[in-house]
Amino acid sequence: MKLKQKALFAGSICVAGLLAGCASMRGVKSVDFDSIRLYTLKNKAGIEVKISNYGATVTSINTVDREGRMADIALGYNDVSGYMNAVDKPYFGAIVGRYGNRIAKGRFTLDGKEYKLATNNGENHLHGGIIGFDKVVWTAEIVGKNAVRFSYLAKAGEEGYPGNLSIAVTYTLTDDNELKIDYLATTDKATPVNLTNHTYFNLKGEGEGTILDHELMINAKGFTPVDSGLIPTGKIVPVAGTPFDFNSAKPIGRDIGQIDQQLEYGLGYDHNFVLNKEGREGQMTPAATVYEPNSGRFMEVFTEEPGIQFYCGNFLDGRLTGKNGKNYVHRGGFCLETQHYPDSPNQAQFPSTVLRPGETYATKTIYRFSVR
Ligand code: GLA
Repeated sequence: MKLKQKALFAGSICVAGLLAGCASMRGVKSVDFDSIRLYTLKNKAGIEVKISNYGATVTSINTVDREGRMADIALGYNDVSGYMNAVDKPYFGAIVGRYGNRIAKGRFTLDGKEYKLATNNGENHLHGGIIGFDKVVWTAEIVGKNAVRFSYLAKAGEEGYPGNLSIAVTYTLTDDNELKIDYLATTDKATPVNLTNHTYFNLKGEGEGTILDHELMINAKGFTPVDSGLIPTGKIVPVAGTPFDFNSAKPIGRDIGQIDQQLEYGLGYDHNFVLNKEGREGQMTPAATVYEPNSGRFMEVFTEEPGIQFYCGNFLDGRLTGKNGKNYVHRGGFCLETQHYPDSPNQAQFPSTVLRPGETYATKTIYRFSVR
């Protein structure tokens, strides 16, 4: 089907809101309002995905339920000013980086030199810092049938990182009902890189209550427990016998209320799971499935990454209003962020996230949609 392109907003009220939002953010570059675009991908089955070049953000995913009724299953805002708001930081739908997830105290040493990153999550660095990749305008290019490539050059020194990092993220909606995300990056100086997509899903439809009844399977025998600041302790702990065992699908809410220090630190699930790669490191492996019994919607996640952050919307508190005017309640969406483990730049025993000149960072994740 055809790929359409249109401006995200029309009208001067939005423009004014945008500029005000910009000015209030520390050190933000001015954003050319006319450059904000929304790309619509639509496949044979009628699945429709919208992606903005602001943050390379997935703003909506419309899929059918088992009766053929459409709903938008991705949380987000109706206009770009929501995404630009510096106060609440849910990272709805965005590409996060240069390092998705946390780096302890915003510091790491690489090739004998210590780097100090922007801290934006208590004393820690989260999702690329104050102006991460979710808050920049990417260059978009239509590169094929239902495929858009978003590129961004992250300059050396941005948020404290070394090296000019050239990134390309391509979203493709296939006729097999897959949203495929291809990540590529190269650098001119060694740097950590960990890119992911931060879409919040609610398979009942955005704004339709909590996700606690969604049945989740995560293909992981271990997870990386954290301290109270959500920094991994460095251990990989078996999930067996803990609330973190999702090897057989179970409702997200089944064990979330158990007395467990990790659930206490995360305020629920907000943890990196170590995927069973079964000797297929760097290759596509089934990472997770989610089933919502009322609608019949089923989602599968495949990735080449070694880990997945399962975050169940613990910081949503009903204050944000979604696209259809309904509030996003506590645990009203979940994220399955395919990634390397958090804080890898400080944890030598974790798979390396360092990209060096001459190398190419290349990784792929697929979200596949169906009904049961
Ligand atoms: C990630 C983090 C969470 C939270 C969300 C955004 O998933 O792990 O702790 O910061 O992003 O709200």
